Amino acid sequence: MKAAVHTRYGPPDVVRISEVDKPTAKDNEVLVKVHATTVNRTDSGLRAAKPFINRFFTGPIRPRVTVLGNEFAGDVEAVGSGVTTFEVGDRVFGYNGTRFGAHAEYLAIAEDGSLATMPTNLTYEEAAASTEGSHYALSLIRKAKVRSGQDVLVNGATGAIGSAAVQLLKHLGANVTAVCDTKHVELVKGLGADRVIDYTAEDFTKDTQTYDVVLDAVGKSSFGRTKRLLKPGGIYLSSDLGPLSQNPILALVTPLLRGKKVMFPIPRDNQEMVRYFKGLLESGAFRPLIDRRYRLDEIVEAYTYVETGQKTGNVVISVAPPTS
Ligand SMILES: NC(=O)c1ccc[n+]([C@@H]2O[C@H](COP(=O)([O-])OP(=O)(O)OC[C@H]3O[C@@H](n4cnc5c(N)ncnc54)[C@H](OP(=O)(O)O)[C@@H]3O)[C@@H](O)[C@H]2O)c1
Repeated sequence: MKAAVHTRYGPPDVVRISEVDKPTAKDNEVLVKVHATTVNRTDSGLRAAKPFINRFFTGPIRPRVTVLGNEFAGDVEAVGSGVTTFEVGDRVFGYNGTRFGAHAEYLAIAEDGSLATMPTNLTYEEAAASTEGSHYALSLIRKAKVRSGQDVLVNGATGAIGSAAVQLLKHLGANVTAVCDTKHVELVKGLGADRVIDYTAEDFTKDTQTYDVVLDAVGKSSFGRTKRLLKPGGIYLSSDLGPLSQNPILALVTPLLRGKKVMFPIPRDNQEMVRYFKGLLESGAFRPLIDRRYRLDEIVEAYTYVETGQKTGNVVISVAPPTS
């Protein structure tokens, strides 16, 4: 089968389309014919080994995982002998966050992994873009236990994580203030934001409103700069380590001080999460934002675009478009 393979760390052009062995489904696995996947910031960080700490997880000298891609949507082509919940022909989507392998024509994933049948109202491309940014957003939101009526500011509301966060927060009944560029103000209002701050015209850290939660989905702020925006006991969440990699340390220290605090949860994914997203996708409460689309053989261009830091939502890769 064809796959996008990288055997050394480096810039986008270390990735090559190569023939590799097609995986087979073990007893507890399903084999998915991948129709669509994404290139996201996790793929970029692992391929480039940036930050350097990524090498502790992916191999100190050379990458252990040579086919990236953690989100996918496609058709079940085969099931292992012990599989009972999926059948050949099912349209499925999901997240393979530890094994990756979605930048390929086929992927094997455990039946009890982060996998569900696709909502019928979605294309493969939409379904493929529904689990990565959203699972980071959901992990942050659940960690902070955001409730209906709370005031939440989302910085970077047009990224994959930020655009999902705005929608998930609105679904929970939060009052959302979103920060984005002028050109995206209407887009972000369309995601449900109650108020939008244009960061080219206004410094959101000088806002006069206070918030229960500040969620930085783009790693462009810090607890120090946003602390004054937080209500007493308020929470600063970030999807990024922070400019000095300080967020994990602050997440350990600030709760001890019993005031405003930083939370930096390890993102979790499981089947419950994918089913939760499926429900929101079916009801229309969540729709992934899709920016550009590329074919698998254009993946180097896709990576190059993702690494501009300017993508709007998600960049989709069409692997094997369905024939019908
Ligand atoms: N914890 C993890 O393991 C993990 C995994 C994935 C990603 N991340 C991190 O999470 C962050 C977000 O990832 P993502 O995939 O959602 O990002 P993304 O989609 O690449 O975000 C890009 C968006 O950020 C906006 N943006 C850029 N500069 C901004 C600024 N100064 N203020 C507000 N918005 C700005 C851009 O919009 P404009 O055009 O309006 O500027 C663009 O739409 C990244 O920092 C990434 O490194 C962490």
